[in-house]
Amino acid sequence: MYYPSFDSASAKLHERALKYLPGGNTRTTVYMKPYPIYAVKGAGCRVWDADGDVRIDCINNFTSHIHGYANPIINAVVKKQLENGTAFGLPTASEIDLAELLCSRVESIDRVRFTNSGTEAVMMAIKAARAFTGRAKIAKVEGAYHGSYDYAEVSLDPRPKEWGEDDTPSSVPYAKGTPGSVLTDVITIPFNDPESAVRLLRLHAGELAAVLIDPIPNRAGLIPASQQFINSLVDTVKEIGALLIFDEVISFRLCYRGAQSIWDVKPDLTAFGKIIGGGFPIGAVGGREDVMAVFDPTNGKPALPHGGTFSANPISMTAGLAAMQLLDQKSFDHLDEMGSKLRAAINKILTARKLAGKAVGMGSLIKVHLTSSDVTDYRSAFQDTETARRLSVFVHGLINRGVLVANNGLIALSTPMNNEDIDLITQAVEGAVDDVLVSMDTIE
Ligand SMILES: Cc1ncc(COP(=O)(O)O)c(C=O)c1O
Repeated sequence: MYYPSFDSASAKLHERALKYLPGGNTRTTVYMKPYPIYAVKGAGCRVWDADGDVRIDCINNFTSHIHGYANPIINAVVKKQLENGTAFGLPTASEIDLAELLCSRVESIDRVRFTNSGTEAVMMAIKAARAFTGRAKIAKVEGAYHGSYDYAEVSLDPRPKEWGEDDTPSSVPYAKGTPGSVLTDVITIPFNDPESAVRLLRLHAGELAAVLIDPIPNRAGLIPASQQFINSLVDTVKEIGALLIFDEVISFRLCYRGAQSIWDVKPDLTAFGKIIGGGFPIGAVGGREDVMAVFDPTNGKPALPHGGTFSANPISMTAGLAAMQLLDQKSFDHLDEMGSKLRAAINKILTARKLAGKAVGMGSLIKVHLTSSDVTDYRSAFQDTETARRLSVFVHGLINRGVLVANNGLIALSTPMNNEDIDLITQAVEGAVDDVLVSMDTIE
């Protein structure tokens, strides 16, 4: 159960990977020091590693696996589709089925377009807003992650030295080589600060195609947007003739009709991904009929042509449909109940052990912050070296006790989990918090 040793199968696989993949890695997010733990099998809410150790998985492929692993119903439809082909240069009925489900569940959506990832969904939503409005700029929240499209990445992880004033955040490149023009075309707004956001949006009125917003941005702290913040964005986009894009790539796992129903908003466009693929690669952009008409090829070249060799492939479509059909109101109630229980248990442990920190989030999403500051946004969630060290000890402490959570403290629950699993996770949290306290004593 302990972190794989230097002569483990995981260590050996990493050594082999180093020869062929940069840093032995394909996804920066899954890299872990000294080497990642290699997975070989998943079933329900558990994952087996290359050394045969089994852990409860609270990463769930970074929230995409809401039904855990190897769900028999999803597997059955995928196996059937495999027998009939995986992708064609022709459309299939499966894309209509999944589009119909999304349109019937999410009130703001009249039409849907499928992509292969959340990154592509956000990119196509931004491009659709540009095609519809004839404007180039977008606005996004500081610290919010929306995938790896250049424009969506701006100010994802600015350092204090570069992030500018609290009420007027600078637009900071995430990746080296980001063109300067990208930074000019992205207006960074502070989270949950309606007054500053409205002022900045008005400053660029006439140039802004859209405001891109995740109502509970994970990388910016997993703090829910205030109703006032969302309302002010809704009102201001209307005032300046821009569109509102909701990024529900993660937040769609919060509610049967999407997170937008919690905030009672009807965005012009919504980006989806992760859970709607039932464990397979997917993304989707959906929205108002007149806006989505930019994709329509029936009258010649559309305003926004869009293809994708594997877009709407029937494996992702059928798996996604089965996963979403399984995700009924009862599933959400179950996830909400487990999420509330675990969040409360973690906070109780932190308080009892007097370790500065807090578990935040909503529904099946929990994020553990081990900082003494009151986390309200990206800046207050920003980790200094000591906070980052404590979180790393905490995450490794959980791994050593049979629980996988994301490096950044994100926990995503899945429907196969039950109260016993939540109790096991809670016990592991107790031990991991003790590890952090011991590590602090050792340092002092
Ligand atoms: C809010 C949000 N938007 C977009 C994306 C990008 O999705 P993908 O990784 O499928 O490209 C992610 C991925 O984690 C995300 O969390």
